[in-house]
Amino acid sequence: MSFELPLNYHIRGMCIDDIVDVLAIDKLSFPTPAKPEIFEYEIEENKIAEYHCLLERDTIVGYDGFWAIGDEIHISTIAIHPNWRGKGLGELLLQNSLFIAQQNPVTMVTLEVRTSNKAAQSLYKKYQFKEVGLRKKYYRDTNEDAILMTLSPLDAPYANFLNEANQTLLSQFKN
Ligand SMILES: CC(C)(COP(=O)(O)OP(=O)(O)OC[C@H]1O[C@@H](n2cnc3c(N)ncnc32)[C@H](O)[C@@H]1OP(=O)(O)O)[C@@H](O)C(=O)NCCC(=O)NCCS
Repeated sequence: MSFELPLNYHIRGMCIDDIVDVLAIDKLSFPTPAKPEIFEYEIEENKIAEYHCLLERDTIVGYDGFWAIGDEIHISTIAIHPNWRGKGLGELLLQNSLFIAQQNPVTMVTLEVRTSNKAAQSLYKKYQFKEVGLRKKYYRDTNEDAILMTLSPLDAPYANFLNEANQTLLSQFKN
């Protein structure tokens, strides 16, 4: 089975023209807004980066990005516009990246999350990420600690889990 999206939604690679919309979501999502140069670098220069936009029809409602570091995928960012949260869209973006990880020789998916960010932690735990460490004062803007989370292995049972999670999510959009 392959990753499926609900009607009217699609995910595509982020391009330079998307940055204005992406920055607007970023500003509403993180304590310190990213500068456009960060996304320009990820899109145009960083060979190990893969960034995506999630669209409802023609509207960008979320984005995410990861770095492929050897046999590891590191999720560097994910955000959904506040008006579109709580509908399963963060899950949809995460599923997309996990399907990509699943289809490549990836042994581990890693990420950092703020200790205060319970919504994101819950999302990651739903997809079987485990807390494996704490990076003290990792976020320089607020001095907040980061929880390091990892997902491994991406084996056949995990592929089944991911397929089922995708089908469950799709059925929610049909209701
Ligand atoms: C984290 C974020 C991407 C989740 O996106 P979302 O579209 O609102 O989440 P979904 O509707 O797909 O929810 C999926 C799961 O996330 C968790 N979750 C989402 N919102 C939550 C909340 N307010 N409280 C607790 N858990 C929450 C739940 O586990 C949920 O599964 P459930 O519906 O079965 O309970 C979104 O809150 C966001 O953009 N936050 C700001 C940016 C950010 O913090 N990014 C993460 C950086 S590490």
